Amino acid sequence: MIPEKNCARCSLHEFRTKIVMPDGNMNSNVVLVGEAPGENEDLTGRPFVGRSGKLLEKIMNSEGIQRSDVLITNTVKCRPPGNRDPTKEEMDACRPFLEYELSTRKVIVGLGKSACRILIGYEGKMADIVNQEMKITINGNELIFLPTYHPAACIYNNDSKAELKRTMNILKNKYLD
Ligand code: URA
Repeated sequence: MIPEKNCARCSLHEFRTKIVMPDGNMNSNVVLVGEAPGENEDLTGRPFVGRSGKLLEKIMNSEGIQRSDVLITNTVKCRPPGNRDPTKEEMDACRPFLEYELSTRKVIVGLGKSACRILIGYEGKMADIVNQEMKITINGNELIFLPTYHPAACIYNNDSKAELKRTMNILKNKYLD
């Protein structure tokens, strides 16, 4: 299930330039789920092309992963105004599209709080679950869920950056070779 060009399932449609659809390897077993498009993503229609996207790619590359090895998507496909966090209602409205993207994969990486909130109902600190693999079920399919820090949280925090690098190391060694 993919959104229609004029999708208006939630109020985010009022602010968008482009719907931001998944990018990367459409057939990958591994999907990275971010939070929401920012300004650059809204303008280009591609996820993770701004500052945090550049850091994400740098950390992936440092562990031998290319953007073209994985699928990259977000909890919502339209930019929230002022880059605020997407609300639960907005994520729920977009959820059928996300589930369609995820349900046939093997490993889902939750990049930060919003992805963990919508996919495993987690509202606590990322530090308490980072890089702890768990099982989740989406549309009757059992998948591995790997929570980690959002790249934006890693820009000025070397400990978070090291954990995100470790996430990429796990992907490379366990799930991508
Ligand atoms: N760009 C995205 O596509 N998603 C984010 O979560 C942040 C930046």
